[in-house]
Amino acid sequence: MGPGPANADPRILAAQSLPLLGHMHPPFLKIMDEVQQGLRYLFQTDSKYTLCASGTGHAGMEMAIANLLEPGETIVVGNNGIWGTRVCDMAGRFGAKVVNLQTEAGKSFSLAELTAAVEQHKPAVLFLCQGESSTGVHQSLAGVGEMCRKNGTLLLVDTVCSLGGVPMYADAWGVDAIYSGSQKCLSAPPGGAPLMLNDRALQKVQNRKTKVRSYYLDLHLVGDYWGWYGSRSYHHTGMVSMWYALREALAIVAEEGLDAMWARHEAVHKQMWDGLRSMGLEPFVEDPNDRLVTVNTIKARAGCYGAGRCVPAGVDWAALCKNAMDKYNVEIAGGLGPTAGKIWRVGLMGYNAKPANVELVLAAFRDGLQQQNYLKA
Ligand code: GLV
Repeated sequence: MGPGPANADPRILAAQSLPLLGHMHPPFLKIMDEVQQGLRYLFQTDSKYTLCASGTGHAGMEMAIANLLEPGETIVVGNNGIWGTRVCDMAGRFGAKVVNLQTEAGKSFSLAELTAAVEQHKPAVLFLCQGESSTGVHQSLAGVGEMCRKNGTLLLVDTVCSLGGVPMYADAWGVDAIYSGSQKCLSAPPGGAPLMLNDRALQKVQNRKTKVRSYYLDLHLVGDYWGWYGSRSYHHTGMVSMWYALREALAIVAEEGLDAMWARHEAVHKQMWDGLRSMGLEPFVEDPNDRLVTVNTIKARAGCYGAGRCVPAGVDWAALCKNAMDKYNVEIAGGLGPTAGKIWRVGLMGYNAKPANVELVLAAFRDGLQQQNYLKA
């Protein structure tokens, strides 16, 4: 119940244990085609250009940056947590000019702030993180795609901890490129990075003047393995068992349906916050519209946070996490990057997003807080 990996669905683990097929054999290529089809539904896109990068969400991040940017081009990075910071680092390594649009941890960017930055810098790419797992912030994408289009900018969105847990309408929202991870709301093990480009983004890749600096992540080559350009050629050995897992994960998403899946995540988020608030705990993210339902952040450090209530001294967040693991066999995580030492993080993602799991998390919090005399037994 931390920020991921979430527990994998047993159906997915069973699929992953099936005998291996050759990575260029027609029955396996059919599985890859079905993964692409499932991803179109998940991203809500008609784009032909979906695939899974062979690697974790970071491979998706690096694939997007390596392909969408040429040296000397500008990227504006909406940076409100650890993932924006990493994108700044990565884009710099690929020779891009990085504009670090930084805001306080716990806040999202308004359309006005994003418009001002894009109009000023006219970047090739605007990066936003839909679900910032280090802070628990949900970035709204309303109007951003249209604004980017007007300015000749591609919109790249990280959805590692949000895809499948909160709405995403890639085509309707004008999102040009998206990457994600397998181990969060998709309930598969880590190791696959779903990725999507629309026609605009693919044209950018195809019209590059310079070679993509990474061989492994070059979409001219990887895309050809996934059949993007009408043929199929060997680039690297596809992660056979991982694509079985992804295919099963996407089948499960289709069986439940995205609307039902998003509603389930929202419902367990509400259930958990009703319980946490009854113990006197408060969300780290002040604005209710900015709260992410999949990774929930809870104030844990003694002291006052903004206009919110003050957390009394003497609550040891790490002791509470240890007790939860030792006694309840449940993972509650601490902060990450800008929130390290300040918050707890609870993931409500995919297979784990169930009322009984919320009850277990609440029992672990209640017990941990009672042990520290923050709550009366
Ligand atoms: C990893 O994705 C994390 O948020 O800890």
